[in-house]
Amino acid sequence: MPYAEGMAGAKVLVVGSCMMDLVVRAPRHPRRGETLFGHDFQTGVGGKGLNQAVAARRAGAASVELIGRIGDDPFGAAIKAYLDEAGVGSTHLVIDHETGTGVAVPIVYDDGGNTILSIPRANLAMTAADIHAAGPAFGAADILLLQLEVAIDAVTAAVELARECGLTTILNAAPAAPLPAGVRGLPGVLIVNELEAEALLPGFVGDWAAKAMALLERETGLAVITLGEEGAVAARADGSVVHVPPFPVMAIDSVGAGDAFCGAFAVCLAEGAGVREALRFASAAGALAATKAGAAASLPIRADIARLLSIR
Ligand code: RIB
Repeated sequence: MPYAEGMAGAKVLVVGSCMMDLVVRAPRHPRRGETLFGHDFQTGVGGKGLNQAVAARRAGAASVELIGRIGDDPFGAAIKAYLDEAGVGSTHLVIDHETGTGVAVPIVYDDGGNTILSIPRANLAMTAADIHAAGPAFGAADILLLQLEVAIDAVTAAVELARECGLTTILNAAPAAPLPAGVRGLPGVLIVNELEAEALLPGFVGDWAAKAMALLERETGLAVITLGEEGAVAARADGSVVHVPPFPVMAIDSVGAGDAFCGAFAVCLAEGAGVREALRFASAAGALAATKAGAAASLPIRADIARLLSIR
């Protein structure tokens, strides 16, 4: 790793969602009209933005700041307390007095896979003005990480401001959707999973390396596709493709694994690592997150990522 104790680490800025996750464990998805018993229920903080901010902090970022919106309610208060405890800055977390905190309902299946219903609520009330009010945070950061689970105006404003400030931007285009017009071609790095890649490349026929190349040509300077049990693939600006295999782990809950990947990737890249090294670091973080239940609760610390990397 380029980062060593005593060196200044990465300063990561995240623009993204905060949610309260109402997590159900179930043998399978119920059919329409069917009532099905689940095995278990838990609440925990989540949201792609919050998860990626916490993931970056635990992966070794020197500082992480999260720009987002929560409601003036008990879920919002729990999220704020969690961020404080995790060492993630929330100076620019707006409390919305009109709209409640976002809620997600992940259903986790017996093999660890999941589907998620996301009801973003206050996250969709974010505005470009929220971003401009947080302008100084852009000047202080090394890298910007964002997703598509907040209002698109806020995402577009953040990408534009990052460009003005010369910040590297990583867009995790999740949940799956076509890229907003104001963002197309702008992110330095694009990270998607298989479903999200297909949403960006409707009708495209080719293997994952070809899909990564197509994303590179259309949208970005570095295109990364996470492939679950097949690892991850990246297409670089020089036209080369890197594939890293997965880390074999006992996966019990994949909620937050993609966020662990994105947060760790941002830290590693900001520290000056090459693409292969960052992919391996991020893949190890994602694999570890899948071994624990919960979203933010499952995100690994740097020492555990380093341990898994040293084994393989
Ligand atoms: O990426 C996982 C997250 O997506 C969950 O924590 C849930 O809140 C949804 O937003």
